[in-house]
Amino acid sequence: MNILIGVTGSIAIYKTCELIRLFVKNGDSVRLVMSQAAAKFISPLTFETLTRQKVLIEQNEDWSSEMNHIDYAKWTDIYIIAPATANTVNKAANGIADNLLLQTYLACTAPVLFAPSANTNMYNHPTTQESFKKLNIIEANAGLLACGDEGIGKMAEPEEIFLRALRELNKDEFWQNKKVTVTAGGSIEKIDDVRFVSNFSSGKMGEALAKAFYIKGADVTLISSKEHNITKEIKQIKVQSAEDYYREILNSDPDYLIMAAAISDFKPSYTSGKLKKEQIGEKMILEMNKNIDILESLKDQKFKKIGFKAERDEQNAVKYAKNSLKKKNLNAVCLNLLTKNDFGSDENEIIFITNNSETVFTQDTKENIALKIADAVKHI
Ligand SMILES: Cc1cc2nc3c(=O)[nH]c(=O)nc-3n(C[C@H](O)[C@H](O)[C@H](O)COP(=O)(O)O)c2cc1C
Repeated sequence: MNILIGVTGSIAIYKTCELIRLFVKNGDSVRLVMSQAAAKFISPLTFETLTRQKVLIEQNEDWSSEMNHIDYAKWTDIYIIAPATANTVNKAANGIADNLLLQTYLACTAPVLFAPSANTNMYNHPTTQESFKKLNIIEANAGLLACGDEGIGKMAEPEEIFLRALRELNKDEFWQNKKVTVTAGGSIEKIDDVRFVSNFSSGKMGEALAKAFYIKGADVTLISSKEHNITKEIKQIKVQSAEDYYREILNSDPDYLIMAAAISDFKPSYTSGKLKKEQIGEKMILEMNKNIDILESLKDQKFKKIGFKAERDEQNAVKYAKNSLKKKNLNAVCLNLLTKNDFGSDENEIIFITNNSETVFTQDTKENIALKIADAVKHI
C-alpha cells in the first residue's frame, strides 16, 4: 500500500520515526509531507533515510515532476497526519489550506487520519474539541506530557496509529457493529494468595486474533491473563481464573466468541492467606478439582463460538477436534499441533474445522494466520 504521512510542529514527531518503521516492515511504500514548523524539530534527512523517498516540503515543491501536493495526494491510499498540532487540526477542520500539508489534505480523496498531539489545555480547548468532531481522529492518550504537564494530549502510540490505519484500509462492512470477544493467555488458578497453577500459553495467538478482528472493523474485547500493549480501541479486560474468563465473556455480550485462551482443566483447592512451609512439611500434595469447561457451559448461548484445540497427538488430533465441535456445539475449531509450533512461538499452523469443512492455514506468522481465521469465521 502507499502511505503518506504528514508531520507538523509537535515534539511527538520523534514517534513518527517508529510509525514509519512499522509501515516499512509491513512492506508498504511510505512518503512524508512536512510543515515548516515540523522542520524545526527534525530534519527531512531522517525521514528520507527511513523511507528512501524524497520528503515533500515547501522548499522543494516542484510542478515539473510529481513532487507536489496534488500528485502526492493522488498517490496515497491513506494520509496520516501524525503528529497533528492543534493549529493543523483547527485549520483542517475549517478547510484552511495555507500551507503544503493542508493543501495535500484538501486535495486527498483517500481516507485521512489525524493523530493529535498537544498540551492538555490546547487539546481540551472548545475550538479544538469542535474540530475533532469534523475529522477522523485517533484520540490522544493521557499521561505526563513533554511540557511537564499531566493530562490528555500525548499522541497515540505508533502501534495504535498503525493498527487504526490498517483498519481504515481493510475494514469489511460485514464486521461493522459486530461484537467479537477474544480470549487469550492461560488461566491462573490460585493455590493460596501467593502461589498459583497455570500453563505456558503466551497469549500471542489471542492478541493476533484481537488485532485481526479490529483491523477487519469489528468491535473487539480482549479478555486475557496477560498484558497486551496494543490499542485502546480494543477493550482489554485482565482476568485470572476460569471463572473470571467465563463471567467476563458473558458480560461482553458478544456476537462471536474466539476462545484462544488455555483454560486449566483442573484447579487446586484454594487456601486464603499464605500456606506456611512449616505447616506443609516435606511433601506438598495438591488436591485438584475439575474446572469449569467454559465452552461447554456456553453451549446454549446464541452467539457463534470458535474453539481452539492444542494437541500433541498428531494421529488423533483431528478426531479430538471434531468431537469437541459436536460435544460443545461449536461453529468451528482451530486445531493447532504443538508438535509443530509450541507455546510462545511467533508462528502457527492451523486446521480450521467446521461441521462440513477442514481448511489448512499453512505455517505463517500468527498475525497472518489470525487474518485468515477472521476471514474464515465470516463464512461460518
Ligand atoms: C517546543 C515546541 C513544542 C510544541 N509542541 C506542540 C504540540 O505538541 N502540539 C501543538 O499543537 N503545538 C505544539 N507547538 C506549537 C506549534 O509548533 C505551532 O502552533 C506551529 O505553528 C504549528 O504549525 P504546524 O501546525 O503548521 O506544524 C509546539 C511548539 C514548540 C516551540
